[in-house]
Amino acid sequence: MSGSRTTPRSAGRMITGASFVATIAAALLCTGCGSGTEVVDHPGKDIYQRYCYACHQAGIADAPMLGDKEAWAPRLTKTRAELLNSVIEGMAPGMPPRAGCGSCSDDELAAAVDFMVLRVE
Ligand code: HEC
Repeated sequence: MSGSRTTPRSAGRMITGASFVATIAAALLCTGCGSGTEVVDHPGKDIYQRYCYACHQAGIADAPMLGDKEAWAPRLTKTRAELLNSVIEGMAPGMPPRAGCGSCSDDELAAAVDFMVLRVE
């Protein structure tokens, strides 16, 4: 009796294990998924998460929060070049020049700005 039950039981365990891994993988793939525009893989996302997230995710020091339409509305009247310039020059006292990233290129900072702007639209 007990011998004949071994096979289906271990097979069941394997399936459970596999779907558990699939669930974790799906959860990881969806980090960064939010409501609204899905930007799953954007060249600026990495820079954003490393150098901009600290202030812009939670609105530290009155930083316009990621995805906050109201906070971004007045800023989106500026051109991309003007926004990038604000990042390069900084906006005293809250926004540090180059977001404090001395090793970031202008292109990388621009990609991070694009990523943030994309999340608002
Ligand atoms: C130390 C906190 C901090 C970090 C880190 C930071 N920001 Fe900001 N950011 C701010 C604050 C505060 C403002 C609002 C400044 C103001 O309006 O005076 C701002 C404003 C901005 C604006 C609007 C500029 C404008 O002209 O209205 C952009 C674009 C921006 N940040 C992009 C970035 C990017 C891209 C990064 C990462 C590469 C970044 N920020 C990192 C604090 C930060």
